[in-house]
Amino acid sequence: MSKYITTPIYYVNGEAHIGHAYTTFIADTMARYEKLKGEDTYFLTGTDEHGQKIEESAQKNNKPTQEFADEISASFKNLWDEFEIDYDKFIRTTDADHKRGVQKAFEVMHAKGDIYKDFYEGHYCVSCETFFPETQLEDGEFCPDCGRTTSIIKEESYFFKLSKYEDKLLKHYEENPDFILPRSRANEVINFVKGGLRDLSVTRTSFTWGVQMPESLNDQSHVMYVWLDALLNYITALGYGKDDANMNYWPASTQFVGKDILRFHAIYWPAFLMSLDLPLPKTIGAHGWWTRDGEKMSKSKGNVIAPKVVADAYGVENLRYFMLREVPFGQDGDFSQRAFIDRINSELSNDLGNLLNRIIGMSGKYSEYEIDSVDVQKYHSKELDAMNEALSNLDAFMENLQTHRYLEELWKLFAIGNGAITGYEPWAKMKEGKVDEALATVALVANILAKAAIMLSPVMPKTTATIADALNFEINNDSYKNLILEKNLLKVFNIKKVPPLFPRVDEPLMPEAPVAQPNAPQEDEREEKSVTKEDDNLIEIGQFFETSLKIGIVVEAEEVPKSKKLLKLQVDLGEGNNRQVVAGIREFYSAEDLINTQVCVVANLKPAKLMGMISEGMLLAAKDEDGLCLVRPEKSKKAGTAIG
Ligand code: ME8
Ligand code: MG
Repeated sequence: MSKYITTPIYYVNGEAHIGHAYTTFIADTMARYEKLKGEDTYFLTGTDEHGQKIEESAQKNNKPTQEFADEISASFKNLWDEFEIDYDKFIRTTDADHKRGVQKAFEVMHAKGDIYKDFYEGHYCVSCETFFPETQLEDGEFCPDCGRTTSIIKEESYFFKLSKYEDKLLKHYEENPDFILPRSRANEVINFVKGGLRDLSVTRTSFTWGVQMPESLNDQSHVMYVWLDALLNYITALGYGKDDANMNYWPASTQFVGKDILRFHAIYWPAFLMSLDLPLPKTIGAHGWWTRDGEKMSKSKGNVIAPKVVADAYGVENLRYFMLREVPFGQDGDFSQRAFIDRINSELSNDLGNLLNRIIGMSGKYSEYEIDSVDVQKYHSKELDAMNEALSNLDAFMENLQTHRYLEELWKLFAIGNGAITGYEPWAKMKEGKVDEALATVALVANILAKAAIMLSPVMPKTTATIADALNFEINNDSYKNLILEKNLLKVFNIKKVPPLFPRVDEPLMPEAPVAQPNAPQEDEREEKSVTKEDDNLIEIGQFFETSLKIGIVVEAEEVPKSKKLLKLQVDLGEGNNRQVVAGIREFYSAEDLINTQVCVVANLKPAKLMGMISEGMLLAAKDEDGLCLVRPEKSKKAGTAIG
């Protein structure tokens, strides 16, 4: 069976932001995942260019509407191209083929008796391109979805008999529990439908920027309602209304949308399809909303994040990883540089990057870079079993759109690899002359990295291609079959050195101040910052003293439940009240051993929240490949003594 995956088509009234990027990243990941599994997969994205909103935006920008749409559509397409989004088609609703397809669909619905002419009087929100009954308005005036002022429109309109499909829709939701994912979102749709569906006005006479009526209706005073036009893109992209060459990809397997437009996709869209006698998509996947540092992003606040700015600073693949790992699909997520940097440093750099470096280093020392899996099964059957178990859990997570669970499960592999190195100490085995055992551990880790790279490739295609290159194989459906499905191990090969894949990030790489939409000023700011950093690594003494370092005494310490890494400490800094410090040292220190010991504390950091707990300082520590140690005064000092 083939797979067909779509994103919403984005309005061309403004540039892309990270919310658009998120939807596109998930859809791209899913499409790549299906392609990796050898499925015949088609991935569609594009732009939504008609309607009053676009017409008004173009006017504000003093541009002819088509020219304005061309520019913004191109900016989306260029961004996805730069991000190497692997779409099979980028559709524009101003494409001639699309317009013909919409007209054809209108004729079919009309012929079926699902479209009739009447008058509409109602409150219209131009921003949402939606009519609302008076009872739904906020304060009798404002749009219940976006809060903007609505306007009263009375006009002749064609209507789609949405009400006719109420029962059929309810039956479909009931019989297909995966039609709306996550399932928790289905209730709101079901309740909405149960509340009664009114017929939908599907044409407009008040403006002209839309798909014309089919000539057969002989009524050119109307243009199509933008949501009818837009939703049909998912089939016109496959040639609906033209030749049906590609229609064998229909029905779609997963249509990704944000929760803001779930109602259109879970109610109107299936009703249109029923009217057209076409099968319904298997799943509408509705994800949550991204905020920035806890706040809603909006142009007026100037805190919208342009995806390119983030990608230029942190790398697009790191951004993909972060967004897919950070939020459970369906829930809202918050973009903060702190959270992003933590994941880069601990999960990408430490767990994955260091593991690769360590086996390159060890194999260099022990076997002139040769990796041989011959003894892996003999010495590491337990680790192989654990690895295979985690690998076999992955598919269900991805197919249920649970990207965060998928990545969490995948990261178990690196824990197994890192655990094997710490547990078996290949360097000690070498000293004892147990060369086979040492090399088996190194080869185990090489296999873990290879298999993990394959499964991570839909999320981080380029990075994992580099890992695969170091391990002398290519990621494709053949290696997927060989190493994942058939569970084979790597043949003998020489590992290649690669530069560190995930340099640690020590400080935010973007300005913390609201990042405004236009690219130019931010680019400048960032460049300035990196130039000073590279050209001049030296600081003035005054800069050093901006950091307040103090001796602290650990008064209380406890493990943070559900965290492998964190300890929560109360530290006496001679201030009367103790400070709470949440430190990522649990792997190296037990809570008990810390009590009554002296530590060095960065005392003037802005408080940060870690797993919901305030941390009011940071401990100085040093870490190399043998682990981490705290930096402590050589002799006991009073709590609060300044260091420097
Ligand atoms: O609604 N967080 O286009 P649109 C998460 N043209 N996702 C976000 C987001 C945020 N803060 N902001 C936007 C339209 N998105 C119509 C769609 S489809 C036939 C027509 C993402 O430009 C999310 O996927 O307003 C949301 O559904 C979509 O962008 C809305 O994009
Ligand atoms: Mg929108």
